[in-house]
Amino acid sequence: DKDEKHPQAHVDIYEKQLVPFGLVRFGVAPDHPEVKNVINTFTQTARSARCAFRGNVVVGRDVAVPELRAAYHAVVLSYGAEDHRALEIPGEELPGVFSARAFVGWYNGLPENRELAPDLSCDTAVILGQGNVALDVARILLTPPEHLEKTDITEAALGVLRQSRVKTVWIVGRRGPLQVAFTIKELREMIQLPGTRPILDPADFLGLQDRIKDVPRPRKRLTELLLRTATEKPGTEDAARQAPASRAWGLRFFRSPQQVLPSPDGRRAAGIRLAVTRLEGVGEAARAVPTGDTEDLPCGLVLSSVGYKSRPIDPSVPFDPKLGVIPNMEGRVVDVPGLYCSGWVKRGPTGVIATTMTDSFLTGQMLLQDLKAGLLPPGPRPGYAAIEALLSSRGVQPVSFSDWEKLDAEEVSRGKGAGKPREKLLDPQEMLGLLGR
Ligand SMILES: Cc1cc2nc3c(=O)[nH]c(=O)nc-3n(C[C@H](O)[C@H](O)[C@H](O)COP(=O)(O)OP(=O)(O)OC[C@H]3O[C@@H](n4cnc5c(N)ncnc54)[C@H](O)[C@@H]3O)c2cc1C
Ligand SMILES: NC(=O)c1ccc[n+]([C@@H]2O[C@H](COP(=O)([O-])OP(=O)(O)OC[C@H]3O[C@@H](n4cnc5c(N)ncnc54)[C@H](OP(=O)(O)O)[C@@H]3O)[C@@H](O)[C@H]2O)c1
Repeated sequence: DKDEKHPQAHVDIYEKQLVPFGLVRFGVAPDHPEVKNVINTFTQTARSARCAFRGNVVVGRDVAVPELRAAYHAVVLSYGAEDHRALEIPGEELPGVFSARAFVGWYNGLPENRELAPDLSCDTAVILGQGNVALDVARILLTPPEHLEKTDITEAALGVLRQSRVKTVWIVGRRGPLQVAFTIKELREMIQLPGTRPILDPADFLGLQDRIKDVPRPRKRLTELLLRTATEKPGTEDAARQAPASRAWGLRFFRSPQQVLPSPDGRRAAGIRLAVTRLEGVGEAARAVPTGDTEDLPCGLVLSSVGYKSRPIDPSVPFDPKLGVIPNMEGRVVDVPGLYCSGWVKRGPTGVIATTMTDSFLTGQMLLQDLKAGLLPPGPRPGYAAIEALLSSRGVQPVSFSDWEKLDAEEVSRGKGAGKPREKLLDPQEMLGLLGR
């Protein structure tokens, strides 16, 4: 049976934040509220009498994975990708350079990024990477702030965006138009973004028309949209919208980041040196190799959006540092019976919510199969009772799902006056205070 369920299992969900939902709360863009509907499914599950949310517990610090394994019949690791992939180029540490992860965390109210305060007084920003996160960041930078006022973006971020002087955003890829990682819906949103116009160089698209005949359909449609935008005159509607545009975004291809260029006083980023590349091989697998030429692009803000990265969680858990995943067979952690993984830490930091859900259902099925086959420890296990004692002896105070529901109500009420779905709480101390801790 593919959709096996267990009639009695109890599940405890440990989470390091005080609040649930991971990247659905701290990643998904504030102007995409419909994507967050998955929160309803989570809430339904979390309210079940057989499920408990234990927030404010950092696994690997407050409680070790072997302790969890000793307390439960099975443990599933689905702790995502908490880091960003570094560019590993000189100048990366200069003020004015941010990871997209931190920037996204900032506008989405991730507590650790609440002090980021990016300086948006420059006229040009460069985003490195051409995935959907890059487009999210570009869109938030360029959307007229009044269009974000009714979203759950933090008031602080909105304030900074209102003062922004950024006029041009370059989205830079090391490969070509046939290798962009973003998807068509998100590209269309950029093309239709109010107050902006696209800058695409028709020369980048020469000969592409013939080459897209054989590529898979989604890639073909995406490339056709790029091609049309680059080479055709905009239709009346697009033209009318673009004529008064004061802001622009552009895609630059065949450019690999080489060095962040400092300002004359060396104090901050003032540009980026890009290595010009050409492709070796074809299609998705083509590799960018430097030609030896470089190009300098002046800018006051560099956002590196080249992917997220998972961290190892515990010395007892195998980790593949190269792929950044826990080695596993369909969710079964290699060589550790009773330990499973799902989500980005299982597959790597790609895939939308639907991919992540499908993949976690699969891990669930593997666990149930193993249980049925007698591969999990027999007899009772203490479960949370054992962990609660450990946490209490360590001074850790877990929060429950009903605690979250109190914080949720507070956020919703703080957003009301401004017509926002919520005003997110940013300070863990304040949140604990609201819970009477
Ligand atoms: C910026 C951004 C925007 C996105 N937008 C969309 C979108 O519009 N539509 C879409 O379908 N998909 C989107 N995605 C993809 C989607 O967010 C992911 O597919 C999905 O969230 C991955 O789920 P996950 O459970 O593996 O990781 P996460 O959602 O990151 O969940 C992992 C959880 O583990 C917790 N955790 C980490 N370490 C520990 C620890 N040591 N102890 C306890 N808890 C821990 C984290 O706090 C987090 O809550 C976006 C991703 C990003 C980065
Ligand atoms: N609206 C949505 O549905 C939405 C929104 C946000 C995120 N997401 C999903 O979340 C996942 C993560 O998104 P993401 O944008 O972080 O990752 P991504 O889709 O993997 O894109 C990463 C980009 O960075 C580039 N890159 C990687 N290493 C590089 C390097 N060293 N130098 C230069 N460029 C480099 C990649 O180019 P190469 O291809 O050349 O490696 C690619 O263009 C994706 O599956 C995405 O679809 C979805």
